[in-house]
Amino acid sequence: MRYIEVAGERLSVIGLGTWQFGSGDWGYGPDYASRIAPMLVRRALELGVTVVDTAEAYGNGASERIVGAALRDAPGEPFVATKLTPILPVTSWAVRHAANSRERLGVPVIDLYQLHFPNPLVPVGTQGRAMAAVAESGLARHIGVSNHSLSRWKAMERAAGRPILSNQVQLSLAAPGAIRDLVPFATDTGHVVIAYSPLAQGLVASDAVPRPNRARQMRRLLRSPQHGDTEGVRTVLRDIASAHGATMAQVALSWLVSHPNVIAIPGARTLEQLEANVAAAELELAASERDALSEAAFAATA
Ligand SMILES: NC(=O)c1ccc[n+]([C@@H]2O[C@H](COP(=O)([O-])OP(=O)(O)OC[C@H]3O[C@@H](n4cnc5c(N)ncnc54)[C@H](OP(=O)(O)O)[C@@H]3O)[C@@H](O)[C@H]2O)c1
Repeated sequence: MRYIEVAGERLSVIGLGTWQFGSGDWGYGPDYASRIAPMLVRRALELGVTVVDTAEAYGNGASERIVGAALRDAPGEPFVATKLTPILPVTSWAVRHAANSRERLGVPVIDLYQLHFPNPLVPVGTQGRAMAAVAESGLARHIGVSNHSLSRWKAMERAAGRPILSNQVQLSLAAPGAIRDLVPFATDTGHVVIAYSPLAQGLVASDAVPRPNRARQMRRLLRSPQHGDTEGVRTVLRDIASAHGATMAQVALSWLVSHPNVIAIPGARTLEQLEANVAAAELELAASERDALSEAAFAATA
């Protein structure tokens, strides 16, 4: 595993996304939730993953509970990130929801508490102060945002009066936009971009067509014109993967985490997927390969 050191933390460049845990959106079923998901958490930590990402919204708290239970007898040093659903992102609501998440996770303090997305009806100052209050009350060590533009991220930080360590956004070869603005900002200022849906929910993981489910319909990754035609990206991925004896998913993740201050949090259905994704941290691409992937990604989304 490779790590980035930011704000005194050691963050694995490959983390574990857990929207899949206990959530009907992915339809992985009860055996996955009760048996596979805890195995994924423990195996991830064994392999050196520190970042485990969840949210109160995933399965209505089920994901946080599964992660919490699995962490109790897990090895390693987890860095647990969860998220506030911003129905009413004011201080009292945020503090109460953070306390509930902390309890479900069974941790003394949440490592990173993120605002899941901006609430357009509540002033940014109110939302920034609400997130700051969670840190000041000792419930979270760091605060972050998700699905925020660069200007909104900066505005939240001004309002919070403290660092908003990270911005978790959709970032992959099928949706590379954040590379142009959020990543340079993070690199210059010691912040972190957390890439969600880093495999574009399977679209850039292999040549197989991802099985439809509610999560995939929700993100519209498979049908949104904004993601254009990813066949060009897949062609480049296929060639580079074959040159390295790696999978397309591994090359897609390696490209992402070759950018400074970027970590990726792929979800996994199986232990094999998890292990392959973690191994992507060790895969080094040549500069020419990274450039070819970037070019194909931006051409597809132009
Ligand atoms: N902040 C937000 O708004 C937000 C939004 C979305 C996600 N997230 C976070 O980001 C995490 C990851 O995003 P995501 O789950 O949407 O998408 P993703 O990580 O791009 O895709 C995960 C899916 O891809 C397939 N897969 C995983 N590893 C693979 C491999 N090595 N080879 C082939 N297929 C593989 C699996 O599906 P199949 O096996 O079923 O094909 C898996 O469920 C989530 O779990 C969540 O924690 C956050």
